[in-house]
Amino acid sequence: MSRITVIGGTGYAGSAIVAEAAARGHQVTALSRSLPDAPIPNVTYVQGDAADEATLSASIEGADVAVGALAPRGPLAGTFRDVYSTIARLADAAGVVLFVVGGASSLRPAPGADRFVTDLSHIPAELHDEIRVGAALIIEDLPATPATLDWVFVSPALRFGARMPGERLGQYRLGDDVAVQPEDGGAISAPDYALGFVDLIEKGDHHRAHVNLAH
Ligand SMILES: NC(=O)c1ccc[n+]([C@@H]2O[C@H](COP(=O)([O-])OP(=O)(O)OC[C@H]3O[C@@H](n4cnc5c(N)ncnc54)[C@H](OP(=O)(O)O)[C@@H]3O)[C@@H](O)[C@H]2O)c1
Repeated sequence: MSRITVIGGTGYAGSAIVAEAAARGHQVTALSRSLPDAPIPNVTYVQGDAADEATLSASIEGADVAVGALAPRGPLAGTFRDVYSTIARLADAAGVVLFVVGGASSLRPAPGADRFVTDLSHIPAELHDEIRVGAALIIEDLPATPATLDWVFVSPALRFGARMPGERLGQYRLGDDVAVQPEDGGAISAPDYALGFVDLIEKGDHHRAHVNLAH
């Protein structure tokens, strides 16, 4: 049993990870600004703003694993990288392993090839900033953290998100920074992404690594 804090634990990705981890008997805390309408049993919900360092510190200290499931949208659009920089610093100081919910655009179509984010011409322009900010975590920020911080950046397949079907198949495929299904970007439901995500936490066999999950 691990103590797992999910920052953004009521969102699309975060709530699935919270549900999967709690179902496996982990001691789960979820931080978000609002409390959920339908709380998951045996989860401790903490209401607070991740932009506030004291709130983050209280959530991360005492955990074994911190999961970042924030999205670079709304008020966090401009501060997302700074907030993750604080999360990384606090996790490093507390000896807490950091797992980050990433995006599909930071993956590569083939080993050594440019990441998808380098060509967003087929993606609606209003999403470009959000995608680039999210990808900057794995392109620049996480690799620049002190070697003492253990992190794993977990990209979902392209067709993942609140507008996608959420069917649980009970299976997933795991890749590194090359998309598991580069031909069409692949797909993964939230429950199966969470299945693979919590398996990664439990196995602890990836360190300072970029991985991806797809059906
Ligand atoms: N296909 C893809 O590549 C794909 C698709 C979807 C998502 N993603 C990635 O997955 C990650 C999570 O996205 P998502 O769709 O799951 O996000 P989401 O549903 O919008 O959830 C965001 C979570 O963060 C919380 N939150 C937001 N601002 C906060 C703050 N200041 N302090 C504390 N909590 C805060 C929200 O709750 P409150 O609002 O109550 O605070 C919520 O729990 C993102 O990095 C996103 O890019 C990738």
